[in-house]
Amino acid sequence: MLMNNNIVLIGFMGCGKTTIGKRLATKLQYEFIDTDKLIEEKYNMKIKEIFSAYGEEYFRRLETDTIKEMIEHNHGAVIATGGGLPLRKENAQLLQKLGDVVLLDIEKGTVLWRLKGDKTRPLLQGDDFEQKVEQLLEKRAPFYKRAAKYTVHVDNKNHEEIIKEILQLCHHDVDNP
Ligand code: S3P
Repeated sequence: MLMNNNIVLIGFMGCGKTTIGKRLATKLQYEFIDTDKLIEEKYNMKIKEIFSAYGEEYFRRLETDTIKEMIEHNHGAVIATGGGLPLRKENAQLLQKLGDVVLLDIEKGTVLWRLKGDKTRPLLQGDDFEQKVEQLLEKRAPFYKRAAKYTVHVDNKNHEEIIKEILQLCHHDVDNP
């Protein structure tokens, strides 16, 4: 299969795809792309506004269009994806064409302390924050596993440790990427 040489980070909200992705890209001297940001810029709307104006399913279609475009145009990038992007079967397959897919696996407790009070993620607003996180994590686990080529556990690790693991798994030598 022809594959683009990107590193694609997937995982639950709050797992660090954007933070880790940016640092990893700097280290590799790769471009950094965030699918949420790309969609926000393209449609000139915040994710939250897209959800409330058009609904989740519509947003998922935008995500699929975005990966298709990236397959055409992006090579040598670190790509951070929205937490729900790998749920669609079509997307999981497309992601594999895009590059090495790395799951940043996170436990419930870590998500809870990282995202408590977050106002930007439409799926976690309202009451029962803890229950929402628990249910979504459980429901999504098999989808993440299906989409991922590699898994890195992020709980209790610092950024450098996580980045080192990703580089090793993706066989990237930092001095010679
Ligand atoms: C979502 C995760 C968000 C964003 C949207 C939906 C999800 O991205 O795409 O709010 O369904 O998990 P992050 O994972 O970057 O927070």
